[in-house]
Amino acid sequence: MIIKNPPMGWNSWNTFGSNIHESMIRESADAFIEQGLKDAGYEYLVIDDCWSEYDRDPVTDRLVASHEKFPNGMKAVADYVHSKGLKFGMYSCDGVRTCADYPGSFDHEFLDAQTFAEWEVDFLKYDNCYRPATADCQLLYQRMGVALEQCGRDILFSACNWGTADVWKWIRSSGAHMYRSTGDIQDNFKSFTEIAMSQQDKYGYSAPNCYNDIDMLTIGMYGKGLVGTTGCDDTDYRTQFVLWCMYGAPLMLGCDIRNMTEETKKLILNRDLIAIDQDEACRPPVWQQHPWNANAKCAFKHLANGEYAMAFYNFGDKEYGVPAMLELFGIPTSSGLKVQLTDLFTGEVVGVYRDYVRFQIAAHDCKAFKAKLVRD
Ligand code: GLA
Repeated sequence: MIIKNPPMGWNSWNTFGSNIHESMIRESADAFIEQGLKDAGYEYLVIDDCWSEYDRDPVTDRLVASHEKFPNGMKAVADYVHSKGLKFGMYSCDGVRTCADYPGSFDHEFLDAQTFAEWEVDFLKYDNCYRPATADCQLLYQRMGVALEQCGRDILFSACNWGTADVWKWIRSSGAHMYRSTGDIQDNFKSFTEIAMSQQDKYGYSAPNCYNDIDMLTIGMYGKGLVGTTGCDDTDYRTQFVLWCMYGAPLMLGCDIRNMTEETKKLILNRDLIAIDQDEACRPPVWQQHPWNANAKCAFKHLANGEYAMAFYNFGDKEYGVPAMLELFGIPTSSGLKVQLTDLFTGEVVGVYRDYVRFQIAAHDCKAFKAKLVRD
């Protein structure tokens, strides 16, 4: 199975944690369509941890969906999700228990892959808790990679070992299509900027068919839900979305998509930013930062069509002039080239610049542009 673009979808964990139920999942599938997510390219609806009974079936040894949360079983949920034209994702773990203490797939990989295939699952997030001390993480991901490839159904393999064991070095070999590279995101500015910047030098390993996953988005949570913590405002969320899109990271929403503000919708449905995220060239950005203010950063990304994307970030708590020296992006004065910038939020051409460009940016905010190189 080949995945040519970073996966896009929604995952239950950030907002709902263990508080999941068939009716909420059906409502989310409805909202997925009604709110225009599918039209914008979002595709996978994923149920995270806490979906099963506390123990396996004593006779068949199979995983069993919680009778209370999913009274009609998982196949019925999959059917409903598929009836909306969406793909259905589920969750398991390479250890004996999942992170929230439900049965894990350790030593049951092939049986569980079979069960997921029978339920018509299209995506499996695979976590890393309660792994026996003697079991090697790389080997267990390798094993599930083979189990999924051999289960008779195309199932996207979403690895989640939080960036441990130098995962970027070997994960492509396991058959995974995306891999979590960091610990869990929290809904605050510090958490998501640290997560994003921790991968600055590792994005070169992210490429078609195996993408670096810097975790589910918190956009639209405003402090509510499981990873709510202090919450963010719309400025923070704009910066989060631009960071993820400039990397070409998977875009898995984590808010309650049944109740989104207009600002949230506008942001996550921004077609121009989504196109940058999904750019088929999948090149990581080049970074530069202000000589003495590490909070002022600029990123420059080559796009497949010969154009570029540029983002200016102010991670600081006060407004700041964030500069870019074009020479550091390979555009010296001697090239005779200028950069024409089109704002990706307004669609407006803001100007044409040579050598150097600087934008005043409010605290925590960013600016994102399509950049075209032009001559006089
Ligand atoms: C880990 C993962 C999270 C989530 C929880 C579920 O912490 O990193 O994304 O799946 O487990 O228990």
